[in-house]
Amino acid sequence: MVRSRIVGTGHYAPEFVLTNEALSKRIDTSDEWIFSRTGIRERRVAREGEHTSDLAVEAAKRALEMAGKKATDVDLIIVGTVTADMPMPASAMLLQAKLGSNAPAFDVSAACAGSIYGLSIADQFIRSGTKRCVLVVGADVLSRVVDWEDRTTCVLFGDAAGAMVMVPETREVGGVYSTHLHGDGSQADILKIPAGGSAFPLSADVLAQGLQYVKMNGREVFKIAVRSLVSAVEEALDANGVAASEVAHIISHQANLRIVESVLDKLSIPMERAIVNIQRYGNTSSASVPVTLDEGVRSGRIHEGDLVVMMAIGAGMAWGSTLMRW
Ligand SMILES: CC(C)(COP(=O)(O)OP(=O)(O)OC[C@H]1O[C@@H](n2cnc3c(N)ncnc32)[C@H](O)[C@@H]1OP(=O)(O)O)[C@@H](O)C(=O)NCCC(=O)NCCS
Repeated sequence: MVRSRIVGTGHYAPEFVLTNEALSKRIDTSDEWIFSRTGIRERRVAREGEHTSDLAVEAAKRALEMAGKKATDVDLIIVGTVTADMPMPASAMLLQAKLGSNAPAFDVSAACAGSIYGLSIADQFIRSGTKRCVLVVGADVLSRVVDWEDRTTCVLFGDAAGAMVMVPETREVGGVYSTHLHGDGSQADILKIPAGGSAFPLSADVLAQGLQYVKMNGREVFKIAVRSLVSAVEEALDANGVAASEVAHIISHQANLRIVESVLDKLSIPMERAIVNIQRYGNTSSASVPVTLDEGVRSGRIHEGDLVVMMAIGAGMAWGSTLMRW
C-alpha cells in the first residue's frame, strides 16, 4: 500500500493584531495573567467581511504553490472547521469555488483536532489509491464565536488558516507512517458552542442568554488534553517502533504552552523539539497544526528526512496524532 506525503504547506493569518495589552484595556485581564498561564502575547482577528473560506483560500494557494500543483490537480478538498462561513453549504465547497477547482469537498467538525482528522482521512484516500492529490485545510474564525466580555475564554483564541497538499509518496523511506484518531463524546459539555444548531436554533432568547458563544471548563480541558495527547503520541511511537529521542520535531496544537510543556515533559522530549508560535497567534483551532507545520518548513527548521510528530485535541473531545518522515 502506498503511503501519503505532504508536499506543500501554507498558512494565512489576518492582518489585524490584537495584543494582550489592547485586550486588557477592554476587559479585566492583564498581559501578565494571560502570558504566564498560556504563553499567548497576541492573536490575529479577521476583519469584517473576511470569512473562514477567505482565510482558507489564501493558505491553500500558498500550499499549492509550494507543491507545484494547480487547483485543477486537486481531487479532494477537506476543511477542518467549527466556524464554517454558514451552516450550509460546507466551507470546503466555498473554498473549492474560490480556488477554481471542481473536486469533491467537505468539512470535518473535530474542532482543534480538525486538521489531524482531515489529514488522517486524506491519508486513507491516498493509501487506498482512490485520490492522488488531496488538499487538507484547517481554518477557523473563532473571534466570531467567543464572548468578548468573557475573560475566561476570549483571551485564548485567534483566527487563521493552514493548508497541506498530500500526494502518494514516491520515496522508499518517508511520508506519513501512521495516523491515530480518538474521541470521547461523553466530554462534550466541557467545551462547546451550545446554540446555532438543531438543539438551540438561534432566537432572541438564545442570543440574550449568550448560548451562541464558546463555553469551556478550562481546568477539565487542560487535564484531559495532557492525558490524551501523551497517550496519542505514545501510540504513534509504539506503532512505528520509534523512540521518543528519535523525533526531531513536535508540531502540537497550540492551545496553551503549559499543555505542550506538560505533554513533552511526560514523554521526556525536550521542549526545544517543539515548534511554538502560540505567543503570536493564540489558539487558532484547526488552523493551529498546519500553520505551525508551515512555519517550521518555511523557516528551514524542518529538513528532509526529519521525523515529525503532530498532535492535536479539541472539543468533542476529539484528538489524534500522526508520525511522518519529512
Ligand atoms: C483557561 C486556563 C488558562 C485558565 O487557567 P487556570 O489556572 O485554570 O485558571 P482558572 O480558570 O482556575 O481561574 C483562576 C482565576 O483567574 C481568573 N481569570 C480567568 N481568566 C482570566 C483572565 N483572562 N484574566 C485575569 N483573570 C482571569 C478566574 O476568574 C479565577 O479567578 P478566581 O480565582 O478569583 O475565581 C487553563 O485552564 C487552560 O488553558 N485550560 C485549557 C484550555 C484550552 O486549551 N482550551 C482549548 C482546548 S482545544
